[in-house]
Amino acid sequence: MTVEAGTLPAEGVRAMFDRIAPVYDAMNRVMTAGLDGRWRRETASAVVRPGDRVLDSCCGTGDLAVACARAGGTVTGLDFSERMLERARRKSGQIDWVQGDALALPFEDDSFDAATVGFGVRNLEDLDCGLAELARVLRPGGRLGVLEITRPQGFLQPFYNVWFGTVVPVLGKLLPGGSAYTYLPASVKRFPGPEDLARFLREAGFSEVRYRLFAGGIVALHIGVAG
Ligand SMILES: C[S@@+](CC[C@H](N)C(=O)[O-])C[C@H]1O[C@@H](n2cnc3c(N)ncnc32)[C@H](O)[C@@H]1O
Repeated sequence: MTVEAGTLPAEGVRAMFDRIAPVYDAMNRVMTAGLDGRWRRETASAVVRPGDRVLDSCCGTGDLAVACARAGGTVTGLDFSERMLERARRKSGQIDWVQGDALALPFEDDSFDAATVGFGVRNLEDLDCGLAELARVLRPGGRLGVLEITRPQGFLQPFYNVWFGTVVPVLGKLLPGGSAYTYLPASVKRFPGPEDLARFLREAGFSEVRYRLFAGGIVALHIGVAG
């Protein structure tokens, strides 16, 4: 499949993550110079309180779910890629790993005290629906943390363009599932910037929405409160 436009139907996204699952964690470390671990810990500590029931939606290979468990949550990790979940299951036997669709979450209303999504919302076929589902399964007052790649403004922009536009796709071509790493920069380009994502969260019913930027604005963490 040729993946250039940054948009894929859900089945294409799932198949792509199945293909890149074996190299996903290594690529994350390389692409973020190892910083992703800190961003995940910051996300977990921003929304998880000890004893919380936590959903990590689009959990992939599980690193953010594990960070939420370390922050004291009782965690459910959900993803539709079985190959990504296989990797996640090896990381923790304490977390409930569920195969499912983030656009039709298999949970009752008000099931969780906190929810996180790491580098996941950008891949959703219907962002409004994904955010509405998170609002539905969070109890009123429950906290959401969305960690996502964004486009930096200012002096980092040229560096970012070379890194994501050239280096990442070339690195990806050397690896199985290589076209995914052409999809990645294209999907970032079409995704709303931090101000717009904050607006989408408000429109989905979240209040107290705010965000902070990491790594000079390459990554954003949005926080909101349900209900
Ligand atoms: C870039 S990975 C992020 C994985 C992980 N959250 C992390 O922080 O590394 C995006 C994940 O979202 C999952 N995903 C995308 N759309 C989904 C959907 N509609 N339902 C469930 N999972 C989805 C993919 O299978 C993939 O594992």
